[in-house]
Amino acid sequence: TTYKVGYLIGSLATQSINRKLAKALIRLAPESLEFSEISFRDLPLYSYDYDDDYPEVAQNFKAAIKASDAILFVTPEYNRSIPGGLKNAIDWASRPYGTNAFTRKPSAVIGTSPGAIGTAVAQQSLRSVLSFCNSPQMNAPEAYIQFTPGMITDDGEVTVESTEGFLRNYMAEFHAFIARVLTVLPREE
Ligand code: FNR
Repeated sequence: TTYKVGYLIGSLATQSINRKLAKALIRLAPESLEFSEISFRDLPLYSYDYDDDYPEVAQNFKAAIKASDAILFVTPEYNRSIPGGLKNAIDWASRPYGTNAFTRKPSAVIGTSPGAIGTAVAQQSLRSVLSFCNSPQMNAPEAYIQFTPGMITDDGEVTVESTEGFLRNYMAEFHAFIARVLTVLPREE
Protein backbone atom coordinates (compact mmCIF):
# COMPACT_ATOMS: atom_id res chain seq x y z
CA THR A 1 0.00 0.00 0.00
CA THR A 2 1.14 3.52 -0.77
CA TYR A 3 0.92 6.09 1.98
CA LYS A 4 1.00 9.86 1.69
CA VAL A 5 3.40 11.42 4.17
CA GLY A 6 3.24 15.16 4.77
CA TYR A 7 6.41 16.48 6.32
CA LEU A 8 7.08 19.63 8.32
CA ILE A 9 10.56 21.06 8.62
CA GLY A 10 10.86 23.04 11.83
CA SER A 11 13.47 25.42 10.43
CA LEU A 12 12.91 28.34 8.06
CA ALA A 13 16.64 28.82 7.44
CA THR A 14 17.84 28.59 3.84
CA GLN A 15 20.82 26.41 4.85
CA SER A 16 18.82 24.32 7.31
CA ILE A 17 20.53 21.09 8.30
CA ASN A 18 17.10 19.69 9.09
CA ARG A 19 16.04 20.32 5.50
CA LYS A 20 19.09 18.30 4.41
CA LEU A 21 18.03 15.56 6.82
CA ALA A 22 14.51 15.59 5.39
CA LYS A 23 15.92 15.17 1.87
CA ALA A 24 18.00 12.24 3.07
CA LEU A 25 15.01 10.59 4.74
CA ILE A 26 12.97 10.87 1.54
CA ARG A 27 15.77 9.27 -0.48
CA LEU A 28 16.11 6.41 1.98
CA ALA A 29 12.41 5.78 2.54
CA PRO A 30 10.53 2.77 1.15
CA GLU A 31 9.14 3.51 -2.32
CA SER A 32 5.60 3.08 -1.06
CA LEU A 33 5.87 6.33 0.91
CA GLU A 34 4.97 9.48 -1.06
CA PHE A 35 6.21 12.75 0.39
CA SER A 36 5.02 16.32 0.22
CA GLU A 37 6.25 19.23 2.29
CA ILE A 38 3.68 21.09 4.30
CA SER A 39 5.02 24.61 4.68
CA PHE A 40 4.04 26.83 7.59
CA ARG A 41 6.13 29.80 6.49
CA ASP A 42 3.21 32.05 5.51
CA LEU A 43 0.96 31.47 8.50
CA PRO A 44 0.31 34.54 10.64
CA LEU A 45 0.74 34.24 14.39
CA TYR A 46 -2.29 32.36 15.69
CA SER A 47 -4.97 33.86 17.90
CA TYR A 48 -8.45 32.54 18.55
CA ASP A 49 -9.77 35.77 17.07
CA TYR A 50 -9.28 33.97 13.75
CA ASP A 51 -11.49 31.03 14.71
CA ASP A 52 -14.67 32.52 13.23
CA ASP A 53 -13.00 33.22 9.90
CA TYR A 54 -9.90 31.12 9.32
CA PRO A 55 -7.60 32.71 6.72
CA GLU A 56 -7.19 30.77 3.50
CA VAL A 57 -3.53 30.07 4.20
CA ALA A 58 -4.50 28.35 7.44
CA GLN A 59 -7.36 26.44 5.81
CA ASN A 60 -4.94 25.15 3.18
CA PHE A 61 -2.42 24.21 5.85
CA LYS A 62 -5.02 22.20 7.74
CA ALA A 63 -6.29 20.59 4.55
CA ALA A 64 -2.76 19.43 3.69
CA ILE A 65 -2.45 17.74 7.07
CA LYS A 66 -5.86 16.14 6.76
CA ALA A 67 -5.02 14.85 3.27
CA SER A 68 -1.90 13.09 4.57
CA ASP A 69 -1.91 9.54 5.87
CA ALA A 70 0.85 10.44 8.29
CA ILE A 71 3.01 13.37 9.35
CA LEU A 72 6.77 13.46 9.72
CA PHE A 73 8.33 16.23 11.82
CA VAL A 74 11.96 17.04 11.07
CA THR A 75 12.93 19.76 13.49
CA PRO A 76 15.83 21.57 15.06
CA GLU A 77 16.07 22.33 18.74
CA TYR A 78 15.84 26.02 19.61
CA ASN A 79 16.51 26.87 23.23
CA ARG A 80 15.70 23.32 24.30
CA SER A 81 12.32 23.32 22.59
CA ILE A 82 10.88 23.42 19.09
CA PRO A 83 11.08 26.61 16.98
CA GLY A 84 8.25 29.04 17.57
CA GLY A 85 7.12 28.86 13.95
CA LEU A 86 6.49 25.14 14.22
CA LYS A 87 4.57 25.49 17.46
CA ASN A 88 2.49 28.27 15.88
CA ALA A 89 1.73 25.97 12.94
CA ILE A 90 0.60 23.15 15.24
CA ASP A 91 -1.64 25.58 17.11
CA TRP A 92 -3.26 26.62 13.82
CA ALA A 93 -3.85 23.01 12.82
CA SER A 94 -5.38 22.15 16.19
CA ARG A 95 -8.12 24.78 16.05
CA PRO A 96 -10.97 25.83 15.99
CA TYR A 97 -11.90 23.55 18.87
CA GLY A 98 -13.30 20.27 17.58
CA THR A 99 -11.53 20.42 14.21
CA ASN A 100 -8.00 19.42 15.28
CA ALA A 101 -6.28 18.13 12.14
CA PHE A 102 -3.87 15.91 14.13
CA THR A 103 -6.49 13.74 15.78
CA ARG A 104 -5.71 10.08 14.99
CA LYS A 105 -3.06 11.16 12.49
CA PRO A 106 0.03 8.97 12.84
CA SER A 107 3.26 10.92 13.28
CA ALA A 108 6.98 10.57 13.83
CA VAL A 109 9.58 13.04 15.04
CA ILE A 110 13.24 13.32 14.15
CA GLY A 111 15.79 16.10 14.11
CA THR A 112 19.42 17.06 13.91
CA SER A 113 21.69 19.59 15.55
CA PRO A 114 25.44 20.13 15.66
CA GLY A 115 25.35 19.42 19.39
CA ALA A 116 25.69 15.91 20.82
CA ILE A 117 22.19 15.97 22.26
CA GLY A 118 20.81 15.87 18.70
CA THR A 119 17.49 17.67 19.39
CA ALA A 120 16.47 15.19 22.11
CA VAL A 121 14.96 17.86 24.35
CA ALA A 122 13.06 19.51 21.50
CA GLN A 123 11.67 16.14 20.48
CA GLN A 124 10.42 15.45 24.00
CA SER A 125 8.72 18.83 23.99
CA LEU A 126 7.14 18.13 20.59
CA ARG A 127 5.95 14.72 21.76
CA SER A 128 4.02 16.36 24.61
CA VAL A 129 2.30 18.67 22.16
CA LEU A 130 1.45 15.84 19.78
CA SER A 131 0.12 13.74 22.65
CA PHE A 132 -2.31 16.47 23.56
CA CYS A 133 -3.26 16.76 19.88
CA ASN A 134 -4.14 13.04 19.96
CA SER A 135 -1.64 12.01 17.30
CA PRO A 136 -0.47 8.39 17.60
CA GLN A 137 3.32 8.68 17.61
CA MET A 138 5.98 6.21 16.62
CA ASN A 139 7.71 5.60 19.95
CA ALA A 140 10.64 3.65 18.63
CA PRO A 141 13.08 3.92 17.05
CA GLU A 142 14.05 7.33 18.36
CA ALA A 143 16.46 9.34 16.23
CA TYR A 144 18.73 12.03 17.67
CA ILE A 145 21.07 12.94 14.87
CA GLN A 146 24.24 14.87 15.58
CA PHE A 147 25.08 16.75 12.41
CA THR A 148 28.72 16.79 11.39
CA PRO A 149 30.01 18.86 8.45
CA GLY A 150 29.42 17.05 5.16
CA MET A 151 27.39 14.27 6.77
CA ILE A 152 24.51 14.96 4.37
CA THR A 153 25.03 16.73 1.04
CA ASP A 154 22.74 19.52 -0.17
CA ASP A 155 20.98 16.89 -2.30
CA GLY A 156 20.32 14.70 0.70
CA GLU A 157 22.98 12.10 0.12
CA VAL A 158 24.26 10.59 3.37
CA THR A 159 28.03 10.22 3.32
CA VAL A 160 28.37 8.22 6.55
CA GLU A 161 27.44 4.59 5.99
CA SER A 162 26.29 3.81 9.53
CA THR A 163 24.07 6.91 9.56
CA GLU A 164 22.62 6.00 6.19
CA GLY A 165 21.70 2.54 7.47
CA PHE A 166 20.21 3.98 10.64
CA LEU A 167 18.04 6.47 8.72
CA ARG A 168 16.92 3.85 6.21
CA ASN A 169 15.79 1.62 9.04
CA TYR A 170 14.03 4.56 10.71
CA MET A 171 11.94 5.12 7.56
CA ALA A 172 11.20 1.42 7.15
CA GLU A 173 9.94 1.39 10.73
CA PHE A 174 7.86 4.50 10.07
CA HIS A 175 6.25 2.78 7.10
CA ALA A 176 5.41 -0.25 9.26
CA PHE A 177 4.05 2.02 11.99
CA ILE A 178 1.76 3.87 9.56
CA ALA A 179 0.45 0.55 8.25
CA ARG A 180 -0.31 -0.66 11.78
CA VAL A 181 -2.08 2.52 12.83
CA LEU A 182 -4.17 2.79 9.67
CA THR A 183 -5.30 -0.80 10.12
CA VAL A 184 -7.08 0.11 13.33
CA LEU A 185 -7.74 3.79 12.55
CA PRO A 186 -8.63 4.06 8.84
CA ARG A 187 -8.43 7.61 7.53
CA GLU A 188 -11.75 9.42 7.28
CA GLU A 189 -12.40 10.74 3.78
C1 FNR B 1 20.04 26.98 18.40
N1 FNR B 1 20.79 25.81 18.41
C2 FNR B 1 20.55 24.85 19.40
N2 FNR B 1 21.09 23.58 19.29
C3 FNR B 1 20.78 22.64 20.21
O1 FNR B 1 21.24 21.51 20.09
N3 FNR B 1 19.98 22.94 21.27
C4 FNR B 1 19.43 24.17 21.45
O2 FNR B 1 18.70 24.39 22.40
C5 FNR B 1 19.73 25.18 20.48
N4 FNR B 1 19.19 26.43 20.60
C6 FNR B 1 19.23 27.29 19.52
C7 FNR B 1 18.45 28.44 19.52
C8 FNR B 1 18.42 29.25 18.41
C9 FNR B 1 17.51 30.44 18.39
C10 FNR B 1 19.20 28.93 17.27
C11 FNR B 1 19.16 29.80 16.04
C12 FNR B 1 19.99 27.83 17.28
C13 FNR B 1 21.73 25.51 17.31
C14 FNR B 1 21.01 24.76 16.21
O3 FNR B 1 21.04 23.37 16.48
C15 FNR B 1 21.66 25.02 14.85
O4 FNR B 1 21.55 26.40 14.53
C16 FNR B 1 21.06 24.21 13.73
O5 FNR B 1 21.69 24.52 12.50
C17 FNR B 1 19.55 24.48 13.60
O6 FNR B 1 18.98 23.62 12.64
P1 FNR B 1 18.54 24.20 11.19
O7 FNR B 1 17.77 25.46 11.44
O8 FNR B 1 19.85 24.50 10.47
O9 FNR B 1 17.77 23.11 10.55
